Amino acid sequence: MISIRPFAHPDALSPLACDGVSLDLLAKKHGTPLYVYSAGQILYRLGLFSQAFQSISHLVCYSVKANSALALLKLLDQNGAGFDIVSGGELERVLRVNRQAAQRVVFSGVGKTAAEIDLALRSGILIFNVESAGELDLLAERASRLRKHARLALRVNPDVFAETHPYISTGLREHKFGIDIRQARAVYKTASKHKFLNPCGVSVHIGSQIRSTDPFGAAAERVAQLVRDLRADGLPITSVDVGGGLGIEYHAEHSFNPEEKIHQYAAALLKALRLVENLQLLLEPGRFIVAQAGALLTRVLYVKKNGEKTFVVTDAAMNDLIRPALYQAHHDIVPVTRRKGARRKTVDVVGPVCETGDFFARDRELPELTPGDLVAILDAGAYGLSLSSNYNSRPRPAEVLVEGKRARLIRRRETMDDLLAAEQM
Ligand code: LLP
Repeated sequence: MISIRPFAHPDALSPLACDGVSLDLLAKKHGTPLYVYSAGQILYRLGLFSQAFQSISHLVCYSVKANSALALLKLLDQNGAGFDIVSGGELERVLRVNRQAAQRVVFSGVGKTAAEIDLALRSGILIFNVESAGELDLLAERASRLRKHARLALRVNPDVFAETHPYISTGLREHKFGIDIRQARAVYKTASKHKFLNPCGVSVHIGSQIRSTDPFGAAAERVAQLVRDLRADGLPITSVDVGGGLGIEYHAEHSFNPEEKIHQYAAALLKALRLVENLQLLLEPGRFIVAQAGALLTRVLYVKKNGEKTFVVTDAAMNDLIRPALYQAHHDIVPVTRRKGARRKTVDVVGPVCETGDFFARDRELPELTPGDLVAILDAGAYGLSLSSNYNSRPRPAEVLVEGKRARLIRRRETMDDLLAAEQM
């Protein structure tokens, strides 16, 4: 068994390491802020899906939005994963890694443009997850024009509540996603009449960072019923895409066993789908695969006091990792070097950006930090760099991938020339 996180102190005196590679050395070599990922942890997580779903034909379509680094996509592609994409840009990334991987691509998203649909049709993706009647019309038009057959699933909105942050909950009727499950049969009927459309799947995605596995079961139950109804209507449905969304535990002090979690998840889904035979199951996990494989390394610039509060100012900011600012998300923060007998202090860890929302932790008890210290912000492998920006004209961090005992740069630090390249005066 592999531990939940690849980040640990090899012994009491050594700095924090990623699979044994010293983060102190990586920071010295590549500078900070720096994202560091463990290939071992990513493959371990991918493998958990294959194990848990071995009793059914399935394909894990890694959700590219969680972390779209080409090196990670390549790693996942070489290990048999497919991809869940939501834009032409994400498809381009997958195609750069391996053109053949298009056959393992599912295309979700509420706002696909004609150009994006054309690219997907030409590259021969596995399936479109269609989110509205309007999109179905456009897909039909593009498919006829290009004389390409489009395999499709309707992404249905199952009206299932899943407890998570409201910004990342998607499975209720009031959300913009999917087609009301009660209207789906009629839309499938329309689709089935079109020469270039092949409605062969049903898809659903109820949200992200969902810790309980019950809502996944509830959504899959509704999807299973729809599959039975559609088959009764004469449509040969051959795949069910259950989306992504399986949550992780961001607090180290709360127990979390990814193997147990994935087995609960598989049990909930397989129970719901037990009565529908001859299905390929498509899964779209993002966070569960990459979040805990990554950390953001940052150096302390200043420690300052304002009234009663102590602020630790780091060289990383909300533009590098926006999750705390956007979702009040918790990320554990660990000093890279342990200092013997260090006092613990309650501090806010903040970035240099000119917004009060620019924080990584508030009122957090940490070992006392001083300028120059390195800290690792954990579980930052998902929705870290992929959600980053250049706000405050800050070049984005570099990324390093640890493979076995070796570490390599997979994205160099941005320069100001990169930032200004598209502009003119
Ligand atoms: N499939 C679809 C259609 C999705 O919209 C998403 C995520 C996934 C799969 C992957 O979900 P995951 O397994 O990673 O939970 N930025 C937020 C998360 C946004 C999720 C958006 N959709 C965060 O940092 O928490």
